[in-house]
Amino acid sequence: MSTNESTRAFPKGFLWGVATASYQIEGAVNEAGRVPSIWDTFSHTPGKVFNGDTGDIACDNYHRYSEDIQQISDLGAHSYRLSLSWPRIMTETGQVNQAGLDHYKRLIDELLERGIDPAVTLYHWDLPQWIEDDGGWLNRDTVGYYTQYVETVFRHLNDTVPKFITQNEPWCASMLGYGLGHHAPGLRDWRKAYRAAHHLLLSHGEAVKLYRAMGGKGQIGITLNLTHVYPGSSSEADVAAARRQDIFLNRWFLDPLTKGSYPSEYFERLRPFVGPLDFIRDEDMESISTEFDFLGVNFYNPAHVVDDPEDNSLTGVKQVSTGRERTAMGWEIEPEGLYDLLKRLQDCTDKPLYITENGAAFEDVVVDGRVADTERIAYLHGHIAALQRFVAEGGNLKGYYVWSLLDNFEWAFGYSKRFGLIYVDFETQQRIRKDSFTWFGQLVAGNGLPAMARSIE
Ligand code: FCB
Repeated sequence: MSTNESTRAFPKGFLWGVATASYQIEGAVNEAGRVPSIWDTFSHTPGKVFNGDTGDIACDNYHRYSEDIQQISDLGAHSYRLSLSWPRIMTETGQVNQAGLDHYKRLIDELLERGIDPAVTLYHWDLPQWIEDDGGWLNRDTVGYYTQYVETVFRHLNDTVPKFITQNEPWCASMLGYGLGHHAPGLRDWRKAYRAAHHLLLSHGEAVKLYRAMGGKGQIGITLNLTHVYPGSSSEADVAAARRQDIFLNRWFLDPLTKGSYPSEYFERLRPFVGPLDFIRDEDMESISTEFDFLGVNFYNPAHVVDDPEDNSLTGVKQVSTGRERTAMGWEIEPEGLYDLLKRLQDCTDKPLYITENGAAFEDVVVDGRVADTERIAYLHGHIAALQRFVAEGGNLKGYYVWSLLDNFEWAFGYSKRFGLIYVDFETQQRIRKDSFTWFGQLVAGNGLPAMARSIE
């Protein structure tokens, strides 16, 4: 191996994986005792999701999971991050739905038989609708419903799952779901958003405690969507604006988890929007900051912001463009943002970090049965190169998951945004491996960036 190659290689045992989430891929929404979720309700409400798309069929993964596991196996990935559908596992009366549990047992056993480690997310936004009808994440009782559900999961899957992720992106679940209304349940009320965020964090802490009490055999952590924030200029006002945005996006979640307190410097700014933070009880902070085993990081792009004195909203900032190339989501591509974010996270926690999602949507087209997604390869290449630098400097990063294995139901964007390494024809359910699939397979095999993409660097 040349020096060049050895410097590109990742440490032995570095985990390469692919990620999905239940509502985005499973379909089969009325099967085997599954009850409705808030995303069924939301996607069936006219005007909420692009083109009126729903997850009713999605990638039909509920029926095709063996075929999709075969793809992961062919890819050579070491781990598969999937989420469990709570509404498949618990009935409205709080009983266990054995058929739902059996589905995941079969799926996990099949992964293990093929030598693929399951990384199981316990909540990726598909709250049972009956719990929403009882107040959803605004109701403190939902923490109890959640622990009842995860207790069932731990009891049945503890021996087979090396990694549990309690919550996926509580920022999105609370701020997009209850504050901005872009996601289910579609409310627009900051007080509700902050209340929901607190209960989501508390549910995480309670799940970690439960896992330890039940003798959890693997590791347990949480996944946050973190956005590195840069000030648009070095002016005092812009630096302060970046700090506010950083609290809004990152620290409101990172601080309670790692320090056991919310950033108090933000309380005054929040007060007119949120009112008294009386939904936070002192004892909650101890629970939320229970020691976790790893921190999952979802990263897509950083943010550049300036102060906006005209803006009376919560943060009073304006996002500015840096003129970089964008993905089909309109997100600017800036891999240095990932490097800077990870550097900063080393100051927040000494626990191992995993990139639990990273990837990009582009306008993929099938030409003669092939999807030549060079832009996606370049995106992944740039971000993995940033990770390589971080790891080479001694950074405590243990794995990386591409979002996503398959094109799927991209929440409010429906099927219009394709993030997969595998193209899905949603009419026929045919799967077509994109060029990025082959590229990522080579990366996994060589435990470092493959030669074919080096020219892009
Ligand atoms: C994240 C979500 C994931 C996917 C990607 C693109 O916010 O966790 O489900 O939709 O964005």
